[in-house]
Formats: sequence, C-alpha cells, structure tokens
Amino acid sequence: MANASCFITLEGLDGAGKSTHFEWIQAWLHRAGIRCLSTREPGGTPLGERLRQWLLTQDMQATTETLLMFAARSEHWHTVIEPALKSGQWVLCDRFTDASYAYQGGGRQLGSQAVAVLDRWVMQGRGPDCTILLDLPWDTARTRIADHRGQTDRFEQESAAFFQRVRRAYLQRAEAEPRRFRVVDASQPVVRIQEQLDSILTCLLEQVRPYKSHHNA
Ligand code: TYD
Repeated sequence: MANASCFITLEGLDGAGKSTHFEWIQAWLHRAGIRCLSTREPGGTPLGERLRQWLLTQDMQATTETLLMFAARSEHWHTVIEPALKSGQWVLCDRFTDASYAYQGGGRQLGSQAVAVLDRWVMQGRGPDCTILLDLPWDTARTRIADHRGQTDRFEQESAAFFQRVRRAYLQRAEAEPRRFRVVDASQPVVRIQEQLDSILTCLLEQVRPYKSHHNA
C-alpha cells in the first residue's frame, strides 16, 4: 500500500449517526495498518474552524454561507488534504463538497448549478475517491437529534422541508455518480451498518490506486 492513498468522505443528514460511524471507520483503517488523516468540514484548519463557528451560529445569506463553506474548503484542500494525499496518507473527511450541493444547493434552494460553479473553481475537478452516504428518512434523523443532543446548531433547527430537500439532493448526487458513492441505509441497526461499512472498506483497499495530483498530471 506504500504511496497509495485514498480520499474518503462521509455524508448524511444531521442525526444519521455520522460521528459514530466516522470513529468506527477510523478504527477500521487503523487496524488495517493504513496511515490515515481524519478531518472535517466545515473546519479542518485554524481558519476553517473559525469559519465553522460562524457558519453554525450566525445568521447569514445563503450565498454568503456557500462562499464561506468554499473558503474553508479551499484552505482545507490546499493546506491539509492534498499534501496528505500526496504523501501517501489516506484522508477520511466528515463531509465535503457533496454537503454543499445537498445543504446549500438543495436545502437552501440555490440549485446545483450555483454550487457547481464554485466547485469547479475551487476544486478544479478534484474530490473524493469514495463517498459513503448514510441515508435515512428525516423523521428518524430528527428523533435521534432530539434524543441525543442538548443544543442544536443553526442547521439542525431547519424545517422538515429543508431536510427533505437535503436528502433528495444527496440521493441525486449518489445516483449521478454510482461509482464514487456507496449508499448505506442508516436506519438499520448499527451492527448491520458496520457489516456494510466493512465490505465497502475491504473493496476499497483492494481497488485503491496511487493518488495523482491533477496539477502534476
Ligand atoms: P456536522 O459537522 O456534520 O455537524 P455536527 O457537528 O452537528 O455533527 O456539520 C455541520 C453542519 O454544516 C451540518 O449541519 C451541515 C452543514 N454543512 C453545509 O451546510 N454545507 C457544507 O458544505 C458542509 C461541509 C456542511
């Protein structure tokens, strides 16, 4: 596996159980002897974490929100993710560009074209090798948020209609890119989800190829 890297992202609605499964994937990769950097969006850099504080608490225009998500992402990609991949590490990221298509494009109704403009500009065609989408109906996700969290952030306070649009946008992305996406039914018991994650990661380990930077291609 020397010099072979892989960029994995984990996506899903708030309340899909992302944090639990993120930690489980991290532990799986560690057991498999893979050097892996774990990170998150918005965040992952000192600037990105400051932007995250604003994004989760401060009311703002949907376009401003989208620009800040991509500002944080640009910093994250150039200073953290790309260097790690180039050094042969794997990168596991809690949310990435697909979240902007889902939340800003779908939830905020800016549309996928607007998000795609920023995606092309900032990411220049680069992105995850594998995206695991933890999918579940909003009603189930909402119950979990209510059960497990004391305080909710600005996104978690959004309406059912907002999250239904987010889910739809995620599923459309998955349908459009079936080779990259692995959709997991997150309403199943945790052990069933972990069995699926195990087979996804096992397949990925077999397939992974060296990361090639588009800059150096
Ligand atoms: P997350 O870290 O999953 O929240 P939590 O700490 O509650 O598990 O993500 C924070 C929020 O940011 C989440 O509600 C989705 C939102 N988000 C976007 O709206 N667009 C984006 O591009 C990203 C990366 C996140």
